[in-house]
Amino acid sequence: VGTEQEKRVAAEAAALLVDDGMTVGLGTGTTVAYLLPALARRGLHIRCVATSERTAGTARRLGLPVEPFEALDVLDIAIDGADQIDPEGWLIKGGGGAHTREKIVASAATRFVVIADSTKPTLALHPPVPVELIRFGHRATLRVLGKATVRAGAPLSPDGGIIADYTGAFDDPAELADRLSATPGVVGHGLFSPELVSAILVGRGTEVERRTLRN
Ligand code: 5RP
Repeated sequence: VGTEQEKRVAAEAAALLVDDGMTVGLGTGTTVAYLLPALARRGLHIRCVATSERTAGTARRLGLPVEPFEALDVLDIAIDGADQIDPEGWLIKGGGGAHTREKIVASAATRFVVIADSTKPTLALHPPVPVELIRFGHRATLRVLGKATVRAGAPLSPDGGIIADYTGAFDDPAELADRLSATPGVVGHGLFSPELVSAILVGRGTEVERRTLRN
């Protein structure tokens, strides 16, 4: 219950950052589930893109207009959750397997705002790091990665990719991000660099702790 309350206050604070006329990227997950009704209640005239079919469906039912992300090339703001947040602002995302689309949306946004409960900040990121693999040769890609396994029970991504997790230990997220990005067959990975992040809103009890990385 405490965690749910923290997700809600962080999401409601983020909904207030959206202004009339903006183009908005909507993330995926249980924290974003609180953002969607909060945003809908504001009754703004906005255009949205969604990082998953689940988010698109919920948003539309709430009356938020969702467009295909072929129609827009820049977003004013994107708001999404995270699985882990380190002191520098590195994130691990993809607990819901949506990280490839989430990163495309985050990097298209002028401001990317992360919303989370107080269990998400951590002193050091730790495995697993979600990855999405091209289906062709994915067993070979897993072998090249070393410690990596297909996520049991995970459906294919909407782009046909296999959702897997890199489970090896790591100290330096930048080094691992470079290695994952450079591995053929890896479509996307869940390490998001601080350069993508504008602000982090963390619910702590009934309060929201804000960290601004850039404007
Ligand atoms: C989905 C994500 C989510 O943002 C992340 O898993 C956090 O989810 P939740 O808000 O449910 O804790 O990256 O791919």
